Amino acid sequence: MSSDIGKEGHKLLKYILLQCRGGFEAECAAEIAEHCSAIEIAGFPRFEVNSGYVLYEVFGDALECIQRIPFRSLIFVRQWFACLPVFDDLPSHDRLSVLLGPVADLPVSAELLAEVPDTTDGREVLPFAGKLASAMAQTLRQQGVMLPRKARADWRMHLFALSGKKLFVGVSPKRNSSNLEMGIRRLKFPGAAPSRSTLKLEEAWHWFIPQAEWSERLGGGKTAVDLGAAPGGWTWQLVKQGMFVTSVDNGPMAESLMDTGQVTHEKADAFHFQPAKPVDWMVCDVADKPARVTSRMLDWALNGWCHEMIFNLKLPMKKRYQEVRQSLALIEQELQEAGISYRLSARHLYHDREEITCHLVLR
Ligand SMILES: C[S@@+](CC[C@H](N)C(=O)[O-])C[C@H]1O[C@@H](n2cnc3c(N)ncnc32)[C@H](O)[C@@H]1O
Repeated sequence: MSSDIGKEGHKLLKYILLQCRGGFEAECAAEIAEHCSAIEIAGFPRFEVNSGYVLYEVFGDALECIQRIPFRSLIFVRQWFACLPVFDDLPSHDRLSVLLGPVADLPVSAELLAEVPDTTDGREVLPFAGKLASAMAQTLRQQGVMLPRKARADWRMHLFALSGKKLFVGVSPKRNSSNLEMGIRRLKFPGAAPSRSTLKLEEAWHWFIPQAEWSERLGGGKTAVDLGAAPGGWTWQLVKQGMFVTSVDNGPMAESLMDTGQVTHEKADAFHFQPAKPVDWMVCDVADKPARVTSRMLDWALNGWCHEMIFNLKLPMKKRYQEVRQSLALIEQELQEAGISYRLSARHLYHDREEITCHLVLR
């Protein structure tokens, strides 16, 4: 077997392409390096700040990395795939014939996602990427290299275009990557919600809670506390699920929410407020130092004041990755020491800006 042919006969892929929010490339690079190192695969990142992606070169098999590292454990990575070396300087009159040969060596897939960096420049390339991807998928299917759209396949193919001349092609395991193009969940802003922040909580539920569990975990007249609630975008989502909400904020809540009869407004400090009895949900969107928010979230968890929580950690300008790691490690350490069973996850959601969203389930 030649040295660059992988276990299943595929060409050994040495690159992982990781997509992230523009400006978070360093966090994305630090994260993949840490995870690869944990499975004893060395590598190094290449990226430009604000490019919206990181290319990670591994000294090993990129396909192995993206199968062994759980995609859902990554915070800053929206989407990923193992890829062939960059296609640069593609001839505009016949891009397909350059792409088709190398692509035939990839694991077999039944779909091709057209993707671009989520930046102003990147989005301009999306129509081109879409057209090229559909022409490529059609030709690959005619050649028997790609399966029909509805066929079962373990892999999906990605075409990630930087321009009409420069692009990356690769594959991701369907069960260990995002099924959404560019890993972006697009949600329609509900006109009746009092603020755009509402989309952060809705996206958080989509990411952290399987749809089949929504009615059991969110519905049925549950109780909730919303810390830093005004004007009420998150409270609106809780009310929409039928919850009875205590909204804590010194600022004013939208009248429309108060009229539902499901909301009690407490003009209090989120860092001192305690519920009279445990609630099902606590959510927190207070803008404060991550360490201070983390400490208060721990108070809630250790005192058993709620069963499930979603909270945002607003990230400082510097050492963002370190700050996130410290906060999450502290929560894990304190809960383990207290003998509390929990599940903790975190994600830099599409609707998050300089912040990440955390989800903690206490059992
Ligand atoms: C980003 S806004 C929340 C937006 C809200 N989630 C929504 O969807 O409309 C942050 C809120 O936290 C509140 N806040 C900041 N510090 C607070 C504190 N110590 N106690 C209570 N509320 C606080 C602010 O008044 C502000 O309304």
